Amino acid sequence: MKRRILLGAAAMVAALSVTGMAVAQDLPPLAQKDSYKVGFAQSESNNPWRIAETKSFQDTAATCGWDLIVTDAGGSAAKQVADVDSMIAQGIDVLFLPPREESPLIPAVMRAKAAGIPTFLVDRSVDPNVAQAGRDYVAFLGSDFIDQGRRVAEWVIANHEGDGKIIELEGTTGSSPANDRKKGFDDAIAADSRFTILESRSGDFSRDEGRKVMETLLQAHPDVNVVYAHNDEMAIGAIQALEAAGRKPGADVLIVSIDGTKDALQAIIDGKMGVTVESSPFFGPLSCETMKKYASGEAIEPWVKVEDRIFTKENAADHVAEAY
Ligand code: AHR
Repeated sequence: MKRRILLGAAAMVAALSVTGMAVAQDLPPLAQKDSYKVGFAQSESNNPWRIAETKSFQDTAATCGWDLIVTDAGGSAAKQVADVDSMIAQGIDVLFLPPREESPLIPAVMRAKAAGIPTFLVDRSVDPNVAQAGRDYVAFLGSDFIDQGRRVAEWVIANHEGDGKIIELEGTTGSSPANDRKKGFDDAIAADSRFTILESRSGDFSRDEGRKVMETLLQAHPDVNVVYAHNDEMAIGAIQALEAAGRKPGADVLIVSIDGTKDALQAIIDGKMGVTVESSPFFGPLSCETMKKYASGEAIEPWVKVEDRIFTKENAADHVAEAY
């Protein structure tokens, strides 16, 4: 993500140097008002992370003066595009969008801009070679997914003894977190010759899909001793598959992932998981603050970055009660 966002930002700077302030002025303005009609087009609601993200927007609505329209695309990028189009037709003032995949949502982002609606990408991004922050949408609000994957790999290198035979459960194919968490982890783990990635396959960020994929891959690779899942839900699914096959997660297979859900923190406390790097779903307050800054004419960074913690057996018990 870091490299690709920077490429996008570099292209934007190049455009600015050719056209002065035209690029920045190209963005739709936002008036300062007491209330705004706001669209939040959620990609799906099949896991605790997505539910917590939607709730964060709903909880923020009253304090931020939002008349909030929430949609759920049910795991379909085409439905998410249709949801955005419907919000444009309903005359929203602002759009907050977590694009399910990097490419299919770009036309919807462009149509929102053409309709004069400032758009903020939250949690997931789009392909920066096609659509750019500061030109096509205001900003990306979210984590550094490459860094999350790298931090998991560094923890594995520091904490796993002997050779590591890894199965990687990838997130939704074509999504920015799946692309970037894979890059961050794979590049960092390649630096230590003890580790081999046996196979890497998508579990679509879903617990049930993660469990099924793990069942299949376990047959092909019974020698697996590390599972890296791109999110906690797939990690929990992998634990279920391993236990059903008589394996002992945490004892003979190290499980590592990303998010910081309640179930993952409990699995760490129970000794079944080693680490989860945080990826916060609580975008409501940050979205409110960034929107208000934009309305007041303040310059917004192309990437409003969220800093993430790391949860291990040293601190999981301190955070499990507040987790989602
Ligand atoms: O985009 C963030 C990812 O999407 C979270 O890690 C995952 O749980 C969610 O579905």
